[in-house]
Amino acid sequence: MAREFTRVGVVGLGTMGAGIVEVFARNGVDVVAVENSEPALARGRATLARSTDRAVARGKLAEADRDALHSRVDFQVGLDALHTVDLVVEAVPEHLDLKRRIFAELDRVCRPDTILATNTSSLSVTDIAVATNRPQQVVGLHFFNPAPVMKLVEVVRTVITAAEVVDDVEALCARLGKVAVTIGDRAGFIANALLFGYLNHAVSLFEARYVTREDLDAAMRLGCRLPMGPLALLDLIGLDTAYEILNTMYRRGGRDRRHAPAPLLRQMVTAGLLGRKSGRGFYTYDKPGSSKVVPDEWTPAATPADADGAREVTRVGVIGAGTLATGLVGLFGRAGYQVVSVTGGAEESTGIGGAVRDSLDEEVRRGGLDGADRDAALARITWAATLDQLADVDLVVEAVTGGPGVEQTLFASLDEICKPGVLLATTSSSLPVIEVAMATGRPADVLGLHFVDPAAAVPLVEVVRTVRTSAEATATARAVCAALGRTAVVCGDRAGFVVDALLFPYLNDAVRMLEAGYATADGIDHAMTLGCGYPTGPFALLDAIGLDVALAAQRALYRESREPGLAPAPLLEHLVTAGYLGRGTGRGFRDHTGR
Ligand SMILES: NC(=O)c1ccc[n+]([C@@H]2O[C@H](COP(=O)([O-])OP(=O)(O)OC[C@H]3O[C@@H](n4cnc5c(N)ncnc54)[C@H](O)[C@@H]3O)[C@@H](O)[C@H]2O)c1
Repeated sequence: MAREFTRVGVVGLGTMGAGIVEVFARNGVDVVAVENSEPALARGRATLARSTDRAVARGKLAEADRDALHSRVDFQVGLDALHTVDLVVEAVPEHLDLKRRIFAELDRVCRPDTILATNTSSLSVTDIAVATNRPQQVVGLHFFNPAPVMKLVEVVRTVITAAEVVDDVEALCARLGKVAVTIGDRAGFIANALLFGYLNHAVSLFEARYVTREDLDAAMRLGCRLPMGPLALLDLIGLDTAYEILNTMYRRGGRDRRHAPAPLLRQMVTAGLLGRKSGRGFYTYDKPGSSKVVPDEWTPAATPADADGAREVTRVGVIGAGTLATGLVGLFGRAGYQVVSVTGGAEESTGIGGAVRDSLDEEVRRGGLDGADRDAALARITWAATLDQLADVDLVVEAVTGGPGVEQTLFASLDEICKPGVLLATTSSSLPVIEVAMATGRPADVLGLHFVDPAAAVPLVEVVRTVRTSAEATATARAVCAALGRTAVVCGDRAGFVVDALLFPYLNDAVRMLEAGYATADGIDHAMTLGCGYPTGPFALLDAIGLDVALAAQRALYRESREPGLAPAPLLEHLVTAGYLGRGTGRGFRDHTGR
């Protein structure tokens, strides 16, 4: 029989603590909610009220239940109020000395059988536990932000934690409607160890002005279907908390440079720009504690500064006969462009023609397109087998797959064939766009248009500007993306652009974690989907993308950055060598035969 917890304490009612109070009180548990001052207590009480009022307004909580919830919470200043509780969850700022002091005090104040839990994200639970005389009754209970919404709780068991204490808190998590993943005491546990390298990298890209705030967040939301972009997420977490977590992870996690907090983070914390809680972080909010973003001096104008000078595009050439080229021919045709599809020969043209027709027919069946529009789209497409047909198009999109040098040769030919002023775009992500651009005599007109596969479904295009790309070329690309109904994210010419540069190192880190035996593939996938709201966990995603594709992308990032932390995980290399490439081959991290 698991132990009953009828009365619990929560210490610290900031971003996390107020949410944790709500989780307990919503589930019928009495809570003593503690702060260190009256003003902080009032802020905690207001946060709880705001959150429950929002739940009522959204129809997720009845008014009577909200009132009952509040009646279960006893707000108090000082730890002495905790002498009656069965469990305490501490959620004060991420400083080891502070937490150790609080635990020593809790040990003195609480009954001998009270379980003491910390919500720390990165500090050693063991270091905190040994500040008490009951280290066997100390665990990590790591809730995710926002606590009332996120299903996951990481239960951290130290080498001293008693087995029954772990069983009891796991049962409590189930009663709270949460999914517990129990793990050992390692910096960042599962989710933060995978999340914070990514968040910090995103800050560095922004700090280096490689991409704007809005484009960076849009890239990850649209390109990876994440619930929030990294900068918006940092504002939600709190920049001070994020800074401390990174700092600790750097010190505890093997001094991986990727965890050394980006200088901008420290500057923002020093300046009091802490995110939502202070009303301003990477974005500006209408008031402290609010989630409503208001315009500020970084907000892009409705018409981007470089919108002027976009050239008119009515005829588009698409080179290639693979999946991406097929998707693009259909996409441009539907959007009203005259399309010239250039393939390697009549047979390929027949193949791609059939595929485009099938996909448009499918759209008609699904009700997304009417028959007349399909016929008009098909009528706008002409099929060709030689580049000469591209002499008078306004935009060429190259989507060929080939070996080294293929793109350069192709662009050199386009330079001879195409009229002046044509925008020449490569969809390749395997080599720097500038190498393709310099194969022509008109590098100012060359850029990358990186459509995230499947192009017909993902609403994002990375517009890759080289050091030679002109403002008119960028403006033209933006306008074309808008006409296609796609969000354009403008970025520099670095390996992985935005999405892949942020996505693949995270996936690689997940493989390393699995390889180290810290958690299972299921545990890691659960942590990211239930703790961070990701649509799929890293292993499900790797099996879908293809392990060979992930390995190639990771190798490119490593080659360019020489960053030791980006070296491909040996397990990933081995699986690829073994032919376990993911769903396509029936086996990757999981066995897909028979599923
Ligand atoms: N912010 C997140 O997204 C997140 C997610 C999971 C875990 N955590 C962890 O939760 C903990 C709290 O982080 P946060 O972001 O909620 O911090 P926060 O700064 O928003 O809130 C901390 C609260 O603790 C209070 N406090 C400070 N000293 C106290 C004391 N002696 N007694 C009582 N209250 C005291 C402060 O007044 C403040 O209200 C940290 O360990 C953090 O790593 C944070």
